[in-house]
Amino acid sequence: MGKIVILTSGKGGAGVSCAAAVFAAELAETGRRVLLMDLAAGLRTQDFLTAADELLLYDLADAAAGRCTLQDVWYASPAYEGVWVLPAPGKKDEMPSAAQTVDLLRRCAQCFDHVVVDCPAGSNLLFELAGAADDVAICCTPDPMSVRACAAVREELAEAFAGEARLIISKFNEEEMLAVWNTNDLDGVIDGVGLRLLGVVPRDTAFARWIAARDQRVCKTAAWGALGRCCARLRGETIPLSLKRS
Ligand SMILES: Nc1ncnc2c1ncn2[C@@H]1O[C@H](COP(=O)(O)OP(=O)(O)OP(=O)(O)O)[C@@H](O)[C@H]1O
Ligand SMILES: [Mg+2]
Repeated sequence: MGKIVILTSGKGGAGVSCAAAVFAAELAETGRRVLLMDLAAGLRTQDFLTAADELLLYDLADAAAGRCTLQDVWYASPAYEGVWVLPAPGKKDEMPSAAQTVDLLRRCAQCFDHVVVDCPAGSNLLFELAGAADDVAICCTPDPMSVRACAAVREELAEAFAGEARLIISKFNEEEMLAVWNTNDLDGVIDGVGLRLLGVVPRDTAFARWIAARDQRVCKTAAWGALGRCCARLRGETIPLSLKRS
């Protein structure tokens, strides 16, 4: 059974999909077979991020309903060797039931070394899938609204996930942090969400540009490196955090 990691957030736009794509690419670089499962029905980010968008015939709804085999529903990423993507349904209302999605996730995990799940903010599926997960990481931008929303997810998740969910602080920019919080100390964010920190990802325009490029040769920017270290820490590697304290 492969390891399942769920990436999610309390608020939209926190960098969950980018983080999930980087986690999948980094895990695949260690020689593992990785499935990147996209739960953002109607938005479908991962086929685009992995450059598999031209290949799609089936999606998660087809596999759940038995309209295709499991092997038909994942596509090898032309951008990242060792990564396969399982696309979300094209429309929101095509998303299968929670029970069907959990069943599909468990079956997928039997065929891969790792399954990385992109679970969008606000999806109740998180609480259904968490019971099957080995790890959960919550992406939070360092602003009070995101912190509040992520704290609410942490609280609700405690019922559904027996493990320790971890915090990724996304899109960190020192100037913005000072403007919003009057300090560059991240303790307020960490304490506000109430989870142990996995890593801090800088706001990084080069990384954002990579999304359009979808080219592994140009994408290893500062944010990529930070997400790679988050992924390695989840796998148990000891990589020190370098946090600014005021
Ligand atoms: N570290 C970063 N620095 C700068 N821009 C980033 C960073 N991470 C993500 N972005 C940008 O932020 C936007 C949202 O990222 P992403 O789609 O990963 O977030 P999300 O949490 O999955 O959003 P959604 O709620 O829509 O699913 C994208 O346009 C992406 O380019
Ligand atoms: Mg997303």
